[in-house]
Amino acid sequence: TGNVTLDVGFVNTASCQSEITYIDGDAGILRYRGYPIDELAEKSTFIEVSYLLIYGELPTAEQLDAFRSRISRHTMLHEDLKDLLAAFPRDAHPMSVLSAAVSALGTFYQDSLSIKDPDQIELSTIRLMAKLPTIAAYAHKKSQGQPLLYPDNSLNLVENFLRMTFGFPAEPYDVDPTIAKALDMLFILHADHEQNCSTSTVRLVGSAQAHLFASISAGIHALSGPLHGGANSAVLEMLGEIHESGDDVETFMNKVKNKEDGVKLMGFGHRVYKNYDPRAAIAKKFAHEVMEKMGVDDPLLDIAIRLEEIALKDDYFVSRKLYPNVDFYTGLIYKAMGFPTEMFTVLFAIGRLPGWIAQWREMIEDPATKIGRPRQIYVGETERHFTEMDAR
Ligand code: CMC
Repeated sequence: TGNVTLDVGFVNTASCQSEITYIDGDAGILRYRGYPIDELAEKSTFIEVSYLLIYGELPTAEQLDAFRSRISRHTMLHEDLKDLLAAFPRDAHPMSVLSAAVSALGTFYQDSLSIKDPDQIELSTIRLMAKLPTIAAYAHKKSQGQPLLYPDNSLNLVENFLRMTFGFPAEPYDVDPTIAKALDMLFILHADHEQNCSTSTVRLVGSAQAHLFASISAGIHALSGPLHGGANSAVLEMLGEIHESGDDVETFMNKVKNKEDGVKLMGFGHRVYKNYDPRAAIAKKFAHEVMEKMGVDDPLLDIAIRLEEIALKDDYFVSRKLYPNVDFYTGLIYKAMGFPTEMFTVLFAIGRLPGWIAQWREMIEDPATKIGRPRQIYVGETERHFTEMDAR
């Protein structure tokens, strides 16, 4: 096998060169296209950050307007695609619905599948940015057995999504500005994170020259796993279980430290951050603010704070450099906003979409790109000879 090195989980192996996102895991630094995450979270908007990630620069007012209006022209779904969504069982997980529907975009929008034609790449980019929130809201409505709403293009992306998720056809829906602002900010925090599992999946699928819809659909499946984006709902389930068990937080932490039944402190630890995840710091601050503004008093927040306090002092976590990651506090905010737990990872997917698209486009445009094809170290049987059935 020549010079093949074993690197399980790609801990040390870079798969590409990228200009999009910079992380310094020891210092807890995250920047999109050079801009620090806290500046973007405070001063920018999700749509603007999406533009920045995909096209490389902050937009002028004109460029941003044009981007917005192109997106708003594509927010509707093909009516037949809705039939497909209607056929899924009501208790289907919305992440499965989301991925299936994005995959199906490749059957409805065949005029934007070419990876060689920049106009088609642009069209599939806009279609995804426009339609993912609509699909996500439909997936939620479907799970509730509630009527679907058409997009209202007088609203911005986040407001439109909130209305389609929580509104009803016969009633006016007033978007709560606190919720809209908070959700927009959370989408910014999730918008890219260099070569994480789902992004690497998007790039790997795309490296075979599969189209953008196929690549993003694969990325959504990767994100659904509890070690990745699925952690945000797993955190809430964990907090809920601790609360219901009536056990004290220390008892749960002992289980984690003794690795009983493989119990982990969900929302803690990260492959790259060996310091406080800067996104978690922002989300934590926001959890307090949003819940206070909305008058929500959730005992699960107290449990989360207590878990963090213990972990930051405990040798098990300290020696392994385990800190809260982005998923630790976001679920509490989503819950306060009224989202059911199953929707949390869908929200992560909406936020991560511009990052996936930017990374896919960078890969497609990079002349150095080759099909992704890891090697292996074979440890199976050496050559042996076929035994007839009656001799086995
Ligand atoms: N709770 C308890 N122990 C942990 C945890 C945790 N959350 N995370 C890591 N460890 C331990 C792990 O058991 C190992 O211990 P030992 O050295 O005794 O074998 C050590 O810390 C190193 O961990 P690792 O599993 O080798 O680290 P990794 O880089 O392979 O995994 C991770 C990173 C994020 C998958 C992992 O920390 C984890 O499973 N965390 C919980 C799930 C989670 O919150 N995922 C969200 C990640 S952030 C953003 C996102 O993708 O959504």
